[in-house]
Amino acid sequence: MTIQDRIKELKQEKNAIILVHNYQLPEVQAIADYLGDSLGLSLQAAQTKADLIVFCGVYFMAETAKILSPEKTVIIPEPGAGCPMADTITPREMQELKKQHPEAHGLCYVNTSAAVKAECDIACTSANALSVVQKGLTHAKSIIFVPDKYLAHYISTQTGRDFITWEGYCPVHAGILPQHILEKKRLHPQAEILVHPECRPEVAELADYVLSTEGMCRRAKASPAQEFIVGTEVGILHRLIRENPGKQFIPASEEAICPDMKKITLEKVLLSLEAETPKVELSKEVISRAQKSIERMLQFA
Ligand code: 13P
Ligand code: SF4
Repeated sequence: MTIQDRIKELKQEKNAIILVHNYQLPEVQAIADYLGDSLGLSLQAAQTKADLIVFCGVYFMAETAKILSPEKTVIIPEPGAGCPMADTITPREMQELKKQHPEAHGLCYVNTSAAVKAECDIACTSANALSVVQKGLTHAKSIIFVPDKYLAHYISTQTGRDFITWEGYCPVHAGILPQHILEKKRLHPQAEILVHPECRPEVAELADYVLSTEGMCRRAKASPAQEFIVGTEVGILHRLIRENPGKQFIPASEEAICPDMKKITLEKVLLSLEAETPKVELSKEVISRAQKSIERMLQFA
């Protein structure tokens, strides 16, 4: 029996669902019940009827699944898969920021720990950050937006709002530079440029579209263009190529690889399904406080 067959068998036996982020290894993407971005994965976790959620992504994403389905068992096959950007801010630092700006609303990017979300009023993902700010925080006098300074900058350019920001950013996306895009555009002048909002402002300015990973998948299908320069983690290329035969996808930088996203393997998925570990465990208090900020965000899905 192949490892894939054994995973399938265990999944049925245990009424499990496998949720997979777009940056995961191709063989892990292939066993997904649902493959998507942070927002889509959160919605799936909130709606699923499964008893067991196997989360193939990074830790904050698995925590979000647990927050939305606290009565379910959520396992992450590699608990050491973290997000360096999420790790730039602690709950204590968020509390300090709120003390310094008591009038401000706290908005956290979903790339934060559950404990940081518990300190915030509302969360957002790259897919809904714009509508969270435009519709969810219309009357907020001031907004603390953590931890991604580049996402905050991009949303600021789109809304005209100023934010109190944090010095966080994604090292993988920050490695994509304007010269990478310009060089690829020189080689592929007809290509449409799709860029993630975690990229530097100088890179976002060169894009035709600034989109979440799922937004990129949708745009690639809908667009009449035949070539695309893709400014995000290279794991997404596998899905883009598979879903769009005949179209060409060029990574803005071949070096944009998130090592944490590659830590989950099929073997680890099988082991974790067999043993139902490692489990994501959060205190009741953190769950109930973080749930408020995530549930508010889901109104803007
Ligand atoms: P998406 O929600 O757009 O998939 O992004 C998640 C992420 O971690 C990007 O680096
Ligand atoms: Fe975090 Fe960047 Fe990796 Fe996304 S790509 S999980 S933001 S380090």
